[in-house]
Amino acid sequence: MASEGKNLVGVDIGSSSIKVCEIKEGRGGTRKLVRFGYHPLPPDTIVDGHIINASAVVEGLEKLFHKSRRRNVALRASGHSVIIKKVVMPLMTPAELSEQIRWEAETHIPFDISEVHIDHEVLHRREDEQQMDVLLVAAKREEIADLTNLATEARLTTRVVDLDAFTIQNVYEQAYGVPEPHETIVLIHVGASLTTVNIIADGTTAFTRDIANGGNVITEEIQRQLGILREEAEAYKCGGDGRGIVPREVPEIINQVVEQLAGEIQRSLDFYLATSGERDLTRIYVSGGTANVRALLDAIHDRARVPVELLDPLRVAQPDSKIDPMVLRGRTSQAVVAMGLALRKEKERRRS
Ligand SMILES: Nc1ncnc2c1ncn2[C@@H]1O[C@H](COP(=O)(O)OP(=O)(O)OP(=O)(O)O)[C@@H](O)[C@H]1O
Ligand SMILES: [Mg+2]
Repeated sequence: MASEGKNLVGVDIGSSSIKVCEIKEGRGGTRKLVRFGYHPLPPDTIVDGHIINASAVVEGLEKLFHKSRRRNVALRASGHSVIIKKVVMPLMTPAELSEQIRWEAETHIPFDISEVHIDHEVLHRREDEQQMDVLLVAAKREEIADLTNLATEARLTTRVVDLDAFTIQNVYEQAYGVPEPHETIVLIHVGASLTTVNIIADGTTAFTRDIANGGNVITEEIQRQLGILREEAEAYKCGGDGRGIVPREVPEIINQVVEQLAGEIQRSLDFYLATSGERDLTRIYVSGGTANVRALLDAIHDRARVPVELLDPLRVAQPDSKIDPMVLRGRTSQAVVAMGLALRKEKERRRS
């Protein structure tokens, strides 16, 4: 993306925590991660993508920004308030497309078109068939406004609102390079409440799907089966109570839930393969806090039978000396969306 100006501060308000990243670009395109902030949110702050406890979010933002003079931010909108669809339209000029896209959207979007903000991007023009593939993005205005109002309350200025799938793709392309036309890359992001699958083929987004499942389900199942408190279950899931002691049932419970989640992911991949006519996937990259669960990567690999690895966002920007390594430790997978948002600039020219 052609762009100029300073980087925005990336702010990822997830259901389990707020993540903040700031990237500084030097001459010659060198990048440094100059800030990483993390603020856990109490359970039930955000449910099904809806912000229930606004004051907890504002408080968190104020805490994360209290020493910061840089207040122009790029925010992440929850997948719950946005629909992404690839649609086929007749070939037309960009001006015609801008006119037509709302009509096209009406046939694809299940909610009132006057309540959504529509955006689009042409993926492919197929001159011989007189058709083009267009990525249609529809975001519920009210939910986006709720989000930006929270930022305003915390004295932040929202310049950009983006989606998990696109920010992660941006990180991927900056970290590993734009995929070759013959490659099919799968980006899977598993957070606390949501899993996003994004498949890049032919150099562009070919398929995206959100699955309403994530790390919370593992915690809840440990909690239920062992009859313990949520915090305890969460600590066991993440490797112990500080002394590394975990009841022997825990790995088995984790495996049960992970198998189920990997099964849902594989159904998305199978659906893509069946409908695209594509034969195989090249590689799978996993990110999000739940990517720390090794058994999940193994379960995905067992089904898909292609290489599976962690997406490393630090390839985009190495942390500079100001960042306390302890704050980032174990959290790089969780930082991916905030990193992607932090790549966005004050002024950007759109991709054409
Ligand atoms: N070391 C770890 N082992 C297992 N799970 C972990 C570990 N670290 C984080 N998690 C899990 O990752 C999840 C949080 O990840 P992330 O920060 O990506 O989610 P989020 O952005 O807050 O949520 P969402 O985007 O789904 O609303 C939690 O369920 C947490 O328990
Ligand atoms: Mg998230």
